[in-house]
Amino acid sequence: MCAVRMNGLGDRSAVRRGFAMPGSAVAPAPEVAPVDDGGAAPSLAPDAVVDLAAERSATGVDELLAVLDAELVGLAPVKARIAEIAALLLVDRTRARFGISTAPPNLHMCFTGGPGTGKTTVALRMAGLLHRLGYLRRGHLVTVTRDDLVGQYVGHTAPKTRDVLKRAMGGVLFIDEAYYLHKAENERDYGSESIEILLQVMENHRDDVVVILAGYAAEMDVFFRSNPGMSSRIAHHITFPAYTADELEQIADRMADQLGYVFAPDTRPVLRDYLERRMARPRFANARSVRNAVERARLRQARRLVDGPDPRVDRDALTTIEPADLLASRVFDPEPDGTEPGERGTAEGCGSGTMPE
Ligand SMILES: Nc1ncnc2c1ncn2[C@@H]1O[C@H](COP(=O)(O)OP(=O)(O)OP(=O)(O)O)[C@@H](O)[C@H]1O
Ligand SMILES: [Mg+2]
Repeated sequence: MCAVRMNGLGDRSAVRRGFAMPGSAVAPAPEVAPVDDGGAAPSLAPDAVVDLAAERSATGVDELLAVLDAELVGLAPVKARIAEIAALLLVDRTRARFGISTAPPNLHMCFTGGPGTGKTTVALRMAGLLHRLGYLRRGHLVTVTRDDLVGQYVGHTAPKTRDVLKRAMGGVLFIDEAYYLHKAENERDYGSESIEILLQVMENHRDDVVVILAGYAAEMDVFFRSNPGMSSRIAHHITFPAYTADELEQIADRMADQLGYVFAPDTRPVLRDYLERRMARPRFANARSVRNAVERARLRQARRLVDGPDPRVDRDALTTIEPADLLASRVFDPEPDGTEPGERGTAEGCGSGTMPE
């Protein structure tokens, strides 16, 4: 029996610190050490028997999957696929030790799903997991969109795309709203030049960079139909389902908890009502709408405490979201003509005014 030697397990807080913030271009490599599967791992005799449970526990990957499960509500099919990929990498490493020649697996992926369903968050976790399993050297996430890859004039696109790829080597390149890379209506669009370079690197450097495309399902379908080469290089098409009201409620609980708040018992039915109304409103963005709702409730709570008749507060008052903190939302306003009136009695509603959180 041989266990794979490794450098260390890292810690849960290190994993937690790695949460993706949409809009950030480069997420740092998680502070976990990859397994050491270099020359130190002894090769095995043909009749050797390997305990995969021991190997698995030595990688610490179960711990990482448990953190993922605990911190991300729902997403069962996504979590199942991640567990499969982890198993594949473990089996591959063991096969290599028997001298069974194995080409590196294709781990390029496409995440499709509605807004706020967790695509960016999971991409960052994936980078950490692939690093932990020794597949990626660095395990960082480089997030880009079309504008980071495609230039404005002749000769501009190739260096831009190559520069992004250079930064992504050893980690995950996450291309958000990937369908914008291809503009079907414009034959001379530079996007196709970028796609060509991406395809080459996805083929030739697949063991040093994992490309994850993300976007809404219908648009990604159109994109893949126009770019069959890209479609065939993606081994994992993963669908992120919309969250149910129950899941959104759990997400709200976790987000509030992370911020040091609780919902008062009589806030619960109001929260549920809020979520169901919000789900039916335009521009609903799943967990992101929940995050916005919690942030706004927090603002209203602060104002209630500061402007209230009794300025004295205790710990409970400071940490509790009351029904009024949600009920002031525009989501509870009647919609006689389908328009959204301004928020009642608060100074919020900045920005475009299109989000009725
Ligand atoms: N299952 C979940 N459990 C807890 N929080 C979640 C979950 N899914 C998403 N979130 C949180 O919701 C927010 C939005 O998630 P994320 O940015 O990953 O969504 P997205 O699918 O990339 O959205 P978009 O398509 O708009 O880019 C983040 O703050 C994330 O932490
Ligand atoms: Mg995203």
